[in-house]
Amino acid sequence: MTTTLIRGGTVVTATGRSQADVLVDGETIVAVLAPGSVVLGTDLSRAVHTVIDATGKYVIPGGIDAHTHMELPFGGTAASDTFETGTRAAAWGGTTTIIDFAVQTYGQRVMDGLATWHEKASGNCAIDYAFHQIVGDVNEDSLQALESLPDEGITSFKMFMAYPGVFYSDDAQILRAMQVSARTGMMTMMHAENGPAIDVLVGQLLAQGKTDPYYHGVARAWQMEEEATHRAIMLANLTGAPLYVVHVSAKQAVEQLAAARDVGQNVFGETCPQYLYLSLEEQLGAPGFEGAKWVCSTPLRSKAEGHQAHMWQSLRTNDIQMVSTDHCPFCMKGQKDLGLGNFSKIPNGIGSVEHRMDLLYQGVVDGQISLERWVEITSTTPARMFGLYGKKGVIAPGADADIVIYDPNGHTSIGYEKTHHMNMDHSAWEGFEIDGHVDTVLSRGKVVIDDNQYLGAKGDGQFVKRGLSQYLI
Ligand code: URP
Ligand code: ZN
Ligand code: ZN
Ligand code: ZN
Repeated sequence: MTTTLIRGGTVVTATGRSQADVLVDGETIVAVLAPGSVVLGTDLSRAVHTVIDATGKYVIPGGIDAHTHMELPFGGTAASDTFETGTRAAAWGGTTTIIDFAVQTYGQRVMDGLATWHEKASGNCAIDYAFHQIVGDVNEDSLQALESLPDEGITSFKMFMAYPGVFYSDDAQILRAMQVSARTGMMTMMHAENGPAIDVLVGQLLAQGKTDPYYHGVARAWQMEEEATHRAIMLANLTGAPLYVVHVSAKQAVEQLAAARDVGQNVFGETCPQYLYLSLEEQLGAPGFEGAKWVCSTPLRSKAEGHQAHMWQSLRTNDIQMVSTDHCPFCMKGQKDLGLGNFSKIPNGIGSVEHRMDLLYQGVVDGQISLERWVEITSTTPARMFGLYGKKGVIAPGADADIVIYDPNGHTSIGYEKTHHMNMDHSAWEGFEIDGHVDTVLSRGKVVIDDNQYLGAKGDGQFVKRGLSQYLI
């Protein structure tokens, strides 16, 4: 077993920061020590094989991206990152655990969908991974299967109020699945947009010749998100299901979540980097078909209406609890271009798994969030929300040695030609400059990124069984 000492750094947790050295034995953190307390040459230190100098740098728990879609089938194609390419890109960016979505497609059995996802991921991941379950066909068999998922280490499932004819569930189906969620303690995750109403607007826009990528966002108006969020909250209230609304982008949806939390309901929300930084106006201004790279659902929102500013504010007030990427990459050529002349045929999704830690760190530099809140919303809360805390999301004895050494004096220029490791032919984040840099990444004690080099291998990452949420009121 290799023993590693990370010394000289500032250990940052969700609750504070201090100068400390971190001792790792094998895959596990064994001690967080006063600086310099391991003196090399003494009995204790004789066992230390590797010393990493973190002087002037932050030592943080590895990022947990609780919303990714490797190989997701969508619109006749599939997300372009495999578990191999996507998890390697995640590691480059300081994320050491992903929670991906196993998919039950319409007409398929839940357990068959899950088995397919295990096959895709097993032996291919660079970092640890867990699954949520997408329920794309709520029926008797599916409801029964949900009951047994916690035994498989899967303690959350996602339903869609959007995408009629694909993943969509109606209110009756949602109600029944939420009853299972309430009974078992599993988290209901919701894609909250009114799909049937959106589809009417899509048809009308196309009939008017409004076919450009920008109209994707026009059709998916904030009212569609607010209404669905409210409906999901009420169904959760009725059934007692804990509810986690994914990819929240509209400020009005945040207000719905905040009102429910104010009366003590177990309701939570996640936002994504694209809703903090990108806007519908920028999509409108993009030349030609370029705006397609930002087509995702929920869509980018208007900056003039104040959604981005409100999203940062919600992260400060904890009206929004955490940030995931909703990583769902598609190439422009051969994938996004399926929607040339018809925005509704553009596969939905943005690739960001590599950049979440950096993009959120820039929020620290810009004075949007504190350093501790950065760690909380990218690692500690995701761990607590989805039953990984203790093993993940914290730097403490007994935790997995998933550690990022982050250099606040470094710099990262994001761009396709520069820092890109995702399997895409473009970057949705071209030109973003980050005043910080992921220097070293340890995944269960193994150094997988160091000095701008990837030192890991596919198969390093293991499936992690999750417990129930540790975040409920
Ligand atoms: O645009 C998105 N979000 N694509 C992935 C599927 C989903 O709804 O999360
Ligand atoms: Zn040893
Ligand atoms: Zn979704
Ligand atoms: Zn998603």
